[in-house]
Amino acid sequence: MSKMTRIEINAHGGPEQMQLVERDLPELKPGQILVRHEAIGVNFIDTYHRSGLYQLPMPTGLGGEAAGLVEAVGDGVAHVKVGDRVAYCSGPIGSYATHNIIDGATAVLLPTSITAKQAVSCLLKGLTVQYLIRQIYPVQQGETVLFHAAAGGVGQIAVQWLKALGATVIGTVGSEEKADLVKALGCDHVINYRTESAPERVKAITDGAKLPVVFDGVGKDTFEDSLDCLRPRGLMVSFGNASGAVDGVNLGILASKGSLMVTRPTLGHFIPTRAALEAASNDFFAAIASGAIKIADPTEYALADAAKAHIDLQSRKTTGSLVLIP
Ligand SMILES: NC(=O)c1ccc[n+]([C@@H]2O[C@H](COP(=O)([O-])OP(=O)(O)OC[C@H]3O[C@@H](n4cnc5c(N)ncnc54)[C@H](OP(=O)(O)O)[C@@H]3O)[C@@H](O)[C@H]2O)c1
Repeated sequence: MSKMTRIEINAHGGPEQMQLVERDLPELKPGQILVRHEAIGVNFIDTYHRSGLYQLPMPTGLGGEAAGLVEAVGDGVAHVKVGDRVAYCSGPIGSYATHNIIDGATAVLLPTSITAKQAVSCLLKGLTVQYLIRQIYPVQQGETVLFHAAAGGVGQIAVQWLKALGATVIGTVGSEEKADLVKALGCDHVINYRTESAPERVKAITDGAKLPVVFDGVGKDTFEDSLDCLRPRGLMVSFGNASGAVDGVNLGILASKGSLMVTRPTLGHFIPTRAALEAASNDFFAAIASGAIKIADPTEYALADAAKAHIDLQSRKTTGSLVLIP
């Protein structure tokens, strides 16, 4: 039986729980494909799966995004063949590994112009931006919007795509170095939310009108400030928990702050089918091909150093994407 090496945890907790182990590769079932990874995506959700913010049955692998070569194809898979280069970003959990067996329907064939490393530095994050700014709130030319953590993996793609749509982009960042980086990406206004009040700056930038939409992946620390950046009937898109989960919300504040709307979306509900995956990934790859979005080289870690990647991502030290190389 063939073997693979992968990161596993036996209990939820800190990065020290992550161990590199050798395991047998399971048999392929109909509809599945075996992918030998060339690069693995690191996403903030992987830290939630590790910590237990999102619970998983133990023991478990980690990670849901990778790219590489198709090594075997189960019965009934028509659109990929052995030797194709594919990427996937919707699991199954266990992509922090040399190999993974995935549902063939979730594999995206990579254009020859995109390497495995490039794909995993942007596929999940790009599809996330696609559904946030093209599906949940289709951003129109001339609108002013705020995107939190603009220098992060998701944030850098969002800033560039929003600019290409003709929006005026306000980005928040946690340091002056990150402010310079997002200005260079085209951000019109940058707020260092460690030293400045986002609602005050937004009021000044918009002459008091405030915003139709805020995209917030920071969570607990920014929730109320994000509401205060919205104009009446504005939409708060709370899509992540980098600073902790938002809880204990008193719905009454939505009324008093302007009949606001809040949504807490996940990718799977906006890209639920093969057809939706193809449409969203084509939209994203087209934005890259047009030159509107440039994907910065990711920060690389060896698969065995996955714990270090989690420590760095959670410490707010990183910009752009992180990838693991098996
Ligand atoms: N709902 C979905 O479908 C979906 C899909 C993908 C990603 N997401 C979410 O999108 C967000 C961004 O993901 P990413 O992988 O691209 O990560 P990232 O933005 O590269 O990293 C998170 C950033 O959040 C900021 N942050 C603010 N307070 C923080 C704190 N207390 N601890 C850690 N970070 C803090 C930091 O930037 P500053 O230093 O500039 O503040 C940090 O660099 C995450 O919340 C993730 O869960 C959601």
